[in-house]
Amino acid sequence: MSEAKRLAGEKAIDYVEDGMVVGVGTGSTVAYFIDALGRIRDRIAGAVSSSEQSTARLKALGIEVLDANAAGPLKLYVDGADECDPHKRLIKGGGAALTREKIIAEASETFVCIIDPAKRVPVLGRFPLPVEVIPMARSLVARRILALTGGQPVWRDGVVTDNGNWILDVHNLAITDPVAMETALNQIPGVVSVGLFARRPADIVIVGGEPPQVL
Ligand code: 5RP
Repeated sequence: MSEAKRLAGEKAIDYVEDGMVVGVGTGSTVAYFIDALGRIRDRIAGAVSSSEQSTARLKALGIEVLDANAAGPLKLYVDGADECDPHKRLIKGGGAALTREKIIAEASETFVCIIDPAKRVPVLGRFPLPVEVIPMARSLVARRILALTGGQPVWRDGVVTDNGNWILDVHNLAITDPVAMETALNQIPGVVSVGLFARRPADIVIVGGEPPQVL
C-alpha cells in the first residue's frame, strides 16, 4: 500500500509551480509528497504546514515553513484522506490534524487530494469520523453526536491535537448527506472542527497506482 501512496504523493508534484507557497497536509501519503518537494525546494518559496509533524519533515529538508496569516491565500494545497467518495468529499483527521488541514484547504484555490485505492468508498462513514473538541465539552459533544447521528462517538484517549484539544471518533455512520452532517455537527458548542470535507471538497484526487489515476 505504501507504494500506491508514494506514487500518489510524487504525482502531486505536477501541480507545483515555480515560486509557489505550497499548502501541505499531514500523514504517510503526504510524507512522500514532502520528500518529493524537498527535491525541488529551490523552485518553491516555501510551505504552509498543517501539523507539527509535517513542519518537522519540511524543515529537515530545508523547506521554509511560513505562518498561514503571513502567507495569505494559497494556490495549492496537497493532502491525503481517510476516505473519498465519488464527489471528492472526504473524511480526514485520522492523524488528528483536521482543524489545521481544514483551515489550509479553505485558504487554497486548488486542493489536490492524494490517496491509495483503498480510500475510495461509495458512501462516507466506514472510517470513524474524527471530530476535534474543546476538552471540557467532550461529554456534551458526544451526547449530541449520538442524538443527531446515531453514530457511536469514541474518545481517542491519550491523543492531544496540535491545538491542545481532544478527538472523538464517530463509529457506525453511513453519511448519505455529508454537507448536512458537516453543517449540523459544526453547530454543537465545543466542536472545533469536523473531519468531513464536504462543503469544501477536494478539487482533484490522485489515486496512487501504476500509472496514477487523476480524478
Ligand atoms: C491526517 C489526515 C490524513 O490525511 C489521513 O489520515 C490519511 O493519512 P495517510 O496518508 O497516512 O493514510 O487527515 O489528519
